[in-house]
Amino acid sequence: MTPVQPLFELCQIRKSFGMAEVLKGVDFQLAPGEVVGFLGANGAGKSTLMRILAGILRPDSGKMSIKAKAYAPSGPVEGRQAGISIVHQELSLVDTLAIVDNLFLGREIHHLGQIRQSEQLEKARKILGRLGSDLDPTHKVAQLRTGEKQIIEIARALLHKSQVLILDEPTAALSPGESENLFRIVGELSAQGIGVVYISHRLEEIERLADRVVVLRDGRMVYDEPRGLHNRGAIISAMAGRDVGEHIQKANSAIAGAFQLLETRNLFSGSLIHGVNLSLRRGELVALTGLVGSGRTELLRILAGIDQPGQGQIFYEGAPFHSHGPAQSIRQGIAFLPEDRKDQGLFLYHSAQTNLSISVLEALSGGLGLLRHVRRRDEARLFEDKSDLLGLQPKNPNLAAGRFSGGNQQKILLGRILATSPRVLLLDEPTRGVDASARQDIYRILAEAASKGTTVLFATSEFAEALTLGQRIVVMREGTIAADFPNRPDLSPNDIMRHAVSEQS
Ligand SMILES: Nc1ncnc2c1ncn2[C@@H]1O[C@H](COP(=O)(O)OP(=O)(O)OP(=O)(O)O)[C@@H](O)[C@H]1O
Ligand SMILES: [Mg+2]
Repeated sequence: MTPVQPLFELCQIRKSFGMAEVLKGVDFQLAPGEVVGFLGANGAGKSTLMRILAGILRPDSGKMSIKAKAYAPSGPVEGRQAGISIVHQELSLVDTLAIVDNLFLGREIHHLGQIRQSEQLEKARKILGRLGSDLDPTHKVAQLRTGEKQIIEIARALLHKSQVLILDEPTAALSPGESENLFRIVGELSAQGIGVVYISHRLEEIERLADRVVVLRDGRMVYDEPRGLHNRGAIISAMAGRDVGEHIQKANSAIAGAFQLLETRNLFSGSLIHGVNLSLRRGELVALTGLVGSGRTELLRILAGIDQPGQGQIFYEGAPFHSHGPAQSIRQGIAFLPEDRKDQGLFLYHSAQTNLSISVLEALSGGLGLLRHVRRRDEARLFEDKSDLLGLQPKNPNLAAGRFSGGNQQKILLGRILATSPRVLLLDEPTRGVDASARQDIYRILAEAASKGTTVLFATSEFAEALTLGQRIVVMREGTIAADFPNRPDLSPNDIMRHAVSEQS
């Protein structure tokens, strides 16, 4: 049997950022039609390795080849020309442009010096259709929700014929239906001989899709096994570097107090929210779930003071509450973790420490008048506390937030809102992009906050997560509350699903 020539081969790739060696001699190759599930803890170096393959970063040393030909791209354009497409973990669309213009940005279809808009539109519609999306390509990207933006990213990668498709956590913001479409397409591409590198923290997806599983730990490949030999326990241990149970710890929180802390009465907002009555008690840990588009994010945004409701009332601590924006809400004890880190939360070019302390600078300040200043030592202590609590990697206060791995960026944002010592914590998909052990940490932290009296309301599209963490489960459907029940041990994801989809279907 002649061995199949790999699509690409990476040999002894090394990469350091400053003093930190992130990739320590990594070998990796992919066969035509192969789907590789690529796992590893937050900060292991997965995105870095794939950026090197795509030509976005240059390795310090090591060799790369594509179909046995030496490959040393000087930038992403060369990577693309060599047939490597990447869907980034962080969204990279231009909000002010239409969907179609984003899809063809830098690769417009020209004829006699003119952009062929009609041809681009047709292709855009076709590719979106293939992804099961009926978005109008002339719409601006700014109006899309996070999951829809992710579909556009994927469409952009698919539009340009490639031999290797890298998907860096593609389903983090997708609904189950959207994910299914993506899985189908991955299958089709693989049947055409295209190789797929699939990065995910969701083991179920990897088990379903991958022909082979690799695990990167601390910059080294520590596991590489074909399908059939997949063994959850071994994979998880390889990621952690030690034996760990895969058992998800159920959160525990003291019984919520009787006191109503936050309440909405007959809330309406545009086409998204149609009469929401929700009342949250002190110390309650509530999962807000439902299908994508059911109104979860919008409800959180209204409660956080970012959007104003069209109609209806909010009561906070028993009194009518009108927020004048998120800054005021934070001062009143209502903190919000948005779904999209890059668009709505992190200051990518500022240090991790600044990002953490930015909402509490006033409290960290001393002195009067012109002498008023941020007490640096207190700021440093805050960073120390929160990075320990969240297991931030690297624990470097001066590193720009944009230079942390995806999962660690999420931890910085979470640290920021915890620093405000909120009475109400509103979180939109708090475990998005974090690895299995960080997920445990976040569950523990939220449960602890609730047991100390903070009201926690978190939106999740994973029904299993709602069941693991929520004491109470609120299911939204088409802008209203379809079900609201205490989390009992006998409840299953199917029970939630029944309420999440319309009664007729
Ligand atoms: N431009 C940069 N400057 C400094 N450090 C960086 C830079 N890019 C990445 N790093 C560091 O390299 C390490 C690996 O990051 P990488 O993004 O590759 O991790 P990852 O495996 O993709 O993690 P995640 O699952 O959280 O996305 C991290 O510690 C990160 O902080
Ligand atoms: Mg990453």
